Amino acid sequence: MRSDGAVHAADSSMHQGLAERLVRLHREVKGTGELTAVTRIAVALYDERTDILKTFIHSSDGGSPLDHSSARLDRIPGLHQLALNGMPRVINDLDAVALSGQEHATRLAAVGYRSSYTVPIRTKGQFYGFLFINASEKDFFTPQVTQRLHPYAELIGQMVMRELDAVHMMRAAVRVIRRVSTVRDEETGAHLARMARYARLVAQKLAGKFDLSDEFVEYLFQFAPLHDVGKISVPDHILFKPGKLTFEEFNVMKTHVVHGIDITDMLIFDFGSQSLPHFDLLRNVVAYHHEALDGSGYPHGLAGDRIPLEARIATVADVFDALTSVRPYKQAWTNEAAFDLLRREAGIKFDPECVAALLDSTAEIEAIQVRFEETVLD
Ligand SMILES: [Fe+2]
Ligand SMILES: [Fe+2]
Repeated sequence: MRSDGAVHAADSSMHQGLAERLVRLHREVKGTGELTAVTRIAVALYDERTDILKTFIHSSDGGSPLDHSSARLDRIPGLHQLALNGMPRVINDLDAVALSGQEHATRLAAVGYRSSYTVPIRTKGQFYGFLFINASEKDFFTPQVTQRLHPYAELIGQMVMRELDAVHMMRAAVRVIRRVSTVRDEETGAHLARMARYARLVAQKLAGKFDLSDEFVEYLFQFAPLHDVGKISVPDHILFKPGKLTFEEFNVMKTHVVHGIDITDMLIFDFGSQSLPHFDLLRNVVAYHHEALDGSGYPHGLAGDRIPLEARIATVADVFDALTSVRPYKQAWTNEAAFDLLRREAGIKFDPECVAALLDSTAEIEAIQVRFEETVLD
């Protein structure tokens, strides 16, 4: 356990695994003579439960006009069709498509990309997202060129799927732990689904300011639901107590963080840190989600930005959802009442920028609350 407080946000420079490999592959592609005009390779991921497609990693020579974008797949008919049929698509004149008013094409054409090759990433009927390859020349993606690109596209697809599978396996392992343990968490699957999406909203809004990569945003979304994994060690009579905890009981409750760190470390050890990407981010969320900005939190009593950013984001997302949910000891608060509390405690307990980003997202929050009602299982 890190006890010296020398922690930093697991920022993009600390976990460039997949993004870095993509940059290296891109360099290799450009080194192969006739493929030098390939100026951008990007991957977007699909969230099946919300039908959202969002940018993930990219390697771009020119501008990167689509960072931090997300959209409903069913609102992008062209891509929706590709996701269904699994076929690649070539657009050899992005300017012409841009003229027809297609927004993404307009943004790509504006920074000098002239053609595109899109490959759905899917296996055994499961759709993971898209690989986008762009070139600085019009009419670049001839059948010969796409054939040359085919093995690279395969390789990138495999890399992405393998990495996501490791994350999904980790989450599945945690779900199993929670279900087989005799202690049932009072936090529902719906709470976890909502708070992960609030965390993603906040991270997306702060991405520009804190230079957060789309990869960071995605892993925060994936790992945020594991924040309370240590609660399986808290006895039922404390976890489900329908009233205020005594001092002693609260001390037992607090141990869920340290137990959570132990469990995370065991999982990371069992899975192998090599195969589990960005475990720093996971560990930071588990270890620091009860720290408070003024140093009054637990178990480390860290203050200010010594608390990693991913934990500050997860805390605001977690608290907001806890306030607006029914718990054994309380009724659900209205969104307005929860916002008021966050506003009052911003800069004291909570990171004011995380709070501001959440307060700026009322429409998205309401959509998440409708989509993930209490009956939804994780
Ligand atoms: Fe917790
Ligand atoms: Fe929680």
